[in-house]
Formats: sequence, C-alpha cells, structure tokens
Amino acid sequence: MEKLNQKSIEIIDAIVAKHTGRPGPVKLMLHDVQHELGYIPFTAMEKIAVASGVSAAEVYGVVTFYTQFTTEPKGKHVINVCMGTACYVKGAQALIDRVTELTGAKVNGTSADGLFSLDATRCLGACGLAPVAIIDDKVYGNATESTAVEDVIRQILATERAAA
Ligand code: FES
Repeated sequence: MEKLNQKSIEIIDAIVAKHTGRPGPVKLMLHDVQHELGYIPFTAMEKIAVASGVSAAEVYGVVTFYTQFTTEPKGKHVINVCMGTACYVKGAQALIDRVTELTGAKVNGTSADGLFSLDATRCLGACGLAPVAIIDDKVYGNATESTAVEDVIRQILATERAAA
C-alpha cells in the first residue's frame, strides 16, 4: 500500500464525507480527489468504495474509464497531444515521439524528474488546427514536431534547470 501523508488522508476523508449520501457520489468524490491531490491514490479508491457501498474494483473501473482521472501524480508541466483522427493524420504521432525524446515522459506517463506528464487525448474539437497540443492549459495549433511545442519545452527545461 502506498504511503500517503496525513494531510492527503485528511483531504480524502473530507471529500468522502462531503459527498456521502448524495446521488452518484463515486464520480463526485473522484473528481474532487483528482482536483485536490492531482491524482487518485489507491487509499482514496478504497475509502470511496466503503462510503459508497460499491467494491474497490468498481471504483477502479471508473478511474480507468475516464481519462480525466489518473492513478499517478502528474508532472509539474502537463502536455496533452491530441490523437484524434485529424491530428493523427497530420503527424500527432511524430509530435508525441518528439515530446518523449525531449522530456523523457512516455504517453500517459510522467518523466523520471517529475517535470513533465504526457497525455494522448481524444479530439479536442479544434481539428482545423491539427495537429493540436496543449501545454499547461495553453493550446498550440499546427504543432508539428519541430515547431512551437519544441520551443516551449526547451524554454521550460531552461527555466527549470536555472531554478534547480
Ligand atoms: S482530431 Fe485533434 S482536435 Fe480534432
């Protein structure tokens, strides 16, 4: 079992208490835990299961079904690359490969230094700008592997290294 600090456990307990007895509590609880902690620890899944009267396996199933939930802490900088059809056709895979090369983060994973998470997402609804990437909530269109995305990542790396 993972080791969670006391503060994280208190946050989970407060979220579970807040939603217990409401309709559809599992997703509400998961949403709040993801928002507060940046991921869903297994301890949270167990507590949510007990409070909601469902099995831990069912809660785990919900976590893995929805891409907004993650079971690992996110990196400091989150990179989303759209892998919808339009973006895929315009080179999203090459972009993903380049991002992995630059950051060390694999798809749906976090780099060993904790700086970057890389997520492949479904269509972001901006197909006219394909391929599309989002870095720390900022959208980049026409983001082939050699354009703005690389510049932004290099800039982040330079800033983080200077601060280290
Ligand atoms: S397929 Fe990427 S934005 Fe639609």
